[in-house]
Amino acid sequence: MILVTGASGQLGRLVIDNLLNTTPANQIIAAVRNPEKVADLAEKGIQVRQADYSDLDSLVTAMQGVEKVLLISSSEVGQRTAQHSNVIDAAKQTSVSLIAYTSILNADTSPLILAKEHVATENLLAESGVPYVLLRNGWYSENYTMGLAGALEHGVVGCAEDGKLSTAARTDYAEAAAAVLVKDEQAGKVYELAGDNAFTLNEYAAVISKVSGKTVAYQNVPEAELTKILVGVGLPEGFAAILADSEAGASKGGLFSDSKDLSTLIGRPTTSIEDSIKAAL
Ligand SMILES: NC(=O)c1ccc[n+]([C@@H]2O[C@H](COP(=O)([O-])OP(=O)(O)OC[C@H]3O[C@@H](n4cnc5c(N)ncnc54)[C@H](OP(=O)(O)O)[C@@H]3O)[C@@H](O)[C@H]2O)c1
Repeated sequence: MILVTGASGQLGRLVIDNLLNTTPANQIIAAVRNPEKVADLAEKGIQVRQADYSDLDSLVTAMQGVEKVLLISSSEVGQRTAQHSNVIDAAKQTSVSLIAYTSILNADTSPLILAKEHVATENLLAESGVPYVLLRNGWYSENYTMGLAGALEHGVVGCAEDGKLSTAARTDYAEAAAAVLVKDEQAGKVYELAGDNAFTLNEYAAVISKVSGKTVAYQNVPEAELTKILVGVGLPEGFAAILADSEAGASKGGLFSDSKDLSTLIGRPTTSIEDSIKAAL
């Protein structure tokens, strides 16, 4: 039995789609805080169990009879260490023999604020005694392509300077997670999951120009200015500051890696930024 947390989210859904290629639906458990959100998964024969990262008892109940858990990091930034600690405690109290955790690229050296909760979670896993494997996910290409309409109108704006971004499509990371969940002997492994071809934001703007036929430029702004711009387009201030910090971290190489773990796991090249732009367009 394989349990996927965050199964109502974008990554979780893609992981389950991929798992269905190798694993019978009745051996997959979708753990979600709101089962109504995944009625479609239940219709496919997947077991749906209610579990909230903030409710240890719900997690212990959901993990009954489970062998492997994919802990997809929570989206509630700031509460994640305590929430992930609950998931790890629940695994300790049940029969779980492997936790796969979606961490962040270069977690142990990353300058990004976002890395702190991931490092804390990696440490909790190391102390837990439960066998675990780390899936250190790089940036999703979708983090950029979801802003494509704005980029086509106003240009690409960021603070990553010439920092290289080794992004890959969300579906690439999902395929890798599903592969690890069905492979043997994964305990103790650390995968640095990154796109095969890194690019700067200047290069990103050039690819948008090539694909769209409209000239798009990159404008580098100070980190505080980027935060203001993101607040201006509707992001909450705390989240805007975290995103700007991540780009500033990228300028120091925090979102770059030349690891080929991702393409090796999925057995094909990662999705190029050009293909992600085409898909988004
Ligand atoms: N690598 C990157 O570029 C990148 C970018 C963004 C996020 N991330 C991280 O990767 C994770 C997965 O990405 P994603 O795109 O799938 O994010 P997403 O679509 O926002 O999904 C987040 C999932 O976490 C669940 N969740 C949040 N709080 C919970 C709680 N208290 N109890 C149980 N479940 C809870 C959500 O449940 P509901 O459906 O009930 O809300 C949802 O299923 C994110 O949560 C975040 O940690 C990575």
